[in-house]
Amino acid sequence: MKRKILIIFCSILLVGILLTGFLSLSLIKANYSNLLDDKIYTIIGLSIIIGLLASFVLAYRFINKMVGPLVEMTEATKQISDGDLTKRISVNSSDEIGKLATNFNNMAIRLSETIKELSESNINLSAVLTSIINPIIAVDNNHRIVLINPAAEQLFEVSAEEAKNKHILEVFRNNILDEELTHILENKIERQIEIFVKIPQEKILKIYTNLIKPKNQPDKIIGVVVLIQDVTEIRKLEKMRSGFVANVSHELRTPLTSISGFIETLKSGAIDDEKTKRRFLDIIDIETERLTRLIDDILTLSDIENTKHRDTRQKILTSDSIIEVEEIMKSVAKAKGIEILSEIESNLPALYGNRDWFKQMMINLLDNAIKYTISGGKVHIYAYEKYNKIFISVKDSGIGIPKSDLPKLFERFYRVDKARSRKVGGTGLGLAIVKHIVLSFDGKIKVSSEKGKGTEFTVIIPINNAVK
Ligand SMILES: Nc1ncnc2c1ncn2[C@@H]1O[C@H](COP(=O)(O)OP(=O)(O)OP(=O)(O)O)[C@@H](O)[C@H]1O
Ligand SMILES: [Mg+2]
Repeated sequence: MKRKILIIFCSILLVGILLTGFLSLSLIKANYSNLLDDKIYTIIGLSIIIGLLASFVLAYRFINKMVGPLVEMTEATKQISDGDLTKRISVNSSDEIGKLATNFNNMAIRLSETIKELSESNINLSAVLTSIINPIIAVDNNHRIVLINPAAEQLFEVSAEEAKNKHILEVFRNNILDEELTHILENKIERQIEIFVKIPQEKILKIYTNLIKPKNQPDKIIGVVVLIQDVTEIRKLEKMRSGFVANVSHELRTPLTSISGFIETLKSGAIDDEKTKRRFLDIIDIETERLTRLIDDILTLSDIENTKHRDTRQKILTSDSIIEVEEIMKSVAKAKGIEILSEIESNLPALYGNRDWFKQMMINLLDNAIKYTISGGKVHIYAYEKYNKIFISVKDSGIGIPKSDLPKLFERFYRVDKARSRKVGGTGLGLAIVKHIVLSFDGKIKVSSEKGKGTEFTVIIPINNAVK
């Protein structure tokens, strides 16, 4: 460009000089043919200088007019490409260069509008993607990631920058998802599947796939959107619920079968024998009682689970409550030849929660200690304050629990020895109830046991649960 300008500039200059020289020579020839030689040269010299100056001014103006807008345009394109979309060119001519400048300005306006629209829709899209709690990934036809939302970044422990353009297998090492992508891209179908993954914990993920089709080319497929739902908890709860229903049905059926069996036997003649009748009626009585207790326990458990524990915040005088339960259970223990000993700190700080549940918790723990300790044994109750917490422990010298059973102890209907528990009237819900009550106090429960030696359950409740 610079060379072209130089050539144009020199050409104008040369034409100017030649023209001036030619004109001055013609003038001299016509009017001053009798003048002295040196004067002629002066005139020629002067004419050349004037001509030079005139052509210089002319060339400068011409070039400036032609090149000025082009230089401005070059500058403007650079600024626009650097991101300054407000840059415009001043147009002050109606010739070709003026039209070019006008078109350039229009183009810059359109460009800035389009970019604004695009960035607005981009902001909206990323706001939507960020607010969606489900992980979302979009991949192209080669399974390369083109988009990943924050939830997916979190799930796969990868940043969007790291994941972009990577093959799905590099980010999510799971063949099933990759095979699924191949399947749906080949068959042009959309569907849902569930997969088991380890990332690093075991999870069950429900995967929804949708083909990506451009708006103006609905037959073309350019990739797949994968929406992921973590259904681990849902499936776990479903499994627990169906297990619970199966257990409840079984537990209810057992006494009912027994009751109906004995009634049947009585009806078919046994009622006439006084001794048999008494024995059968006693069994029916025990079974009916078990049935009632079972239903009561199920209702208590569901009540504790369904009540937001923050709803009930009664003041519980801890020491007094424990002593009250001790008194109640002492008679049960005495009947079995078991002694209850206690070391309960007086004036323990008050707790806040459901008073009846607190007592129920103590009853269940003492009931177990008595139930699973043979006659002549001892049960200790300790209650003290330490580290701004209340520690309540119930220790017995009973049959103990094998180590392998300890982790399952608080599950509903779990009994170490089913037959034995049934014999002593256990439903297997006592400790599940205790666990939920302890949780309602934001507390923890621990168990330590040695088979044949005894068991100790310790409940730890934070004192400041009142101020929360
Ligand atoms: N102090 C204990 N010593 C030995 N085993 C215990 C003790 N406490 C609980 N267990 C074992 O844990 C199991 C579960 O106890 P849990 O209180 O939940 O049920 P349960 O006592 O059988 O029935 P219930 O619902 O009537 O309390 C018991 O069946 C028993 O095997
Ligand atoms: Mg029990």
